[in-house]
Amino acid sequence: VVDVAASEVDEASGLLWAAGADGVAEIELPGGGVRLVAGIAPADEAAAVDALEPRWRPETLDGHHDGWLDAWRPFAHPIRVGPVVVHPPWQPPPWPGLEVGTGDTVVPIDPGGAFGHGDHPTTRMVLAAVVDRVPPARRVLDVGCGSGVLSVVAARLGAEHVRAIDVDEAAVSATATNAEANGVADRVQADGTALGDVHETYELVLANVLAPTLIELGPALSARLAPGGHLVVSGMLASQVDQVIAACAPLRVVSRTQAASAVAEPWVACTLAHP
Ligand SMILES: C[S@@+](CC[C@H](N)C(=O)[O-])C[C@H]1O[C@@H](n2cnc3c(N)ncnc32)[C@H](O)[C@@H]1O
Repeated sequence: VVDVAASEVDEASGLLWAAGADGVAEIELPGGGVRLVAGIAPADEAAAVDALEPRWRPETLDGHHDGWLDAWRPFAHPIRVGPVVVHPPWQPPPWPGLEVGTGDTVVPIDPGGAFGHGDHPTTRMVLAAVVDRVPPARRVLDVGCGSGVLSVVAARLGAEHVRAIDVDEAAVSATATNAEANGVADRVQADGTALGDVHETYELVLANVLAPTLIELGPALSARLAPGGHLVVSGMLASQVDQVIAACAPLRVVSRTQAASAVAEPWVACTLAHP
């Protein structure tokens, strides 16, 4: 575990990966700075500590992977995107500095072992698109649902049918659990079906996955989009946007947002539609 300045994240996490880390979690600290929590096999631990700058005062914790995978939990916090507030269930309201009004939709999400308690910049950009498009969109497809945060928010905002798919079993089960906890299990169908085996079309298609996957899935994503609908792709860096858009042809970009990332270029999300 090392606490570093935001400007040192790339350097420190690069050193951790090079020292054999099999995962590095980045947790934004309330007073500024970032806590990096890396999972490292005991045999690589000493070398990893040596590789880091002593001024970062690396600490080692004994633990199983479950321990470091859960290390972010105490730091998770509620986030607001328009009228939607997503929060960890172990931090119920009220929240200092975050007022909740009668028009707000408050959504508890526990990612379990899956990705997505809502605060990642790539997730936030898709959440904003969901807030904009549901309603009128009634049928939603969420490809790479992770914790189910996007699916559950879409259903809580009134979507009638949400299909959530993911290659990771932990994601499918987290999505089902979060749908249940939010009272929308009857409208969120989560399973491990491959995108190529989904045949229906949807008014809103969401995909927050990394660029190589977006490029691979592009033709199938656009094929699942109903006429007049919108495809939201997120998870790509600015330099990867052109390739992702080309893979989604013949769809055209109707809007684009971006957010800071831990590397030099920003994350980008694009909304596309039939020409
Ligand atoms: C960055 S997470 C996004 C989770 C959540 N949708 C969010 O926005 O917070 C990406 C998810 O996509 C899943 N994934 C990766 N490749 C996939 C594929 N080819 N088909 C379906 N899911 C995939 C991963 O297992 C992971 O849960």
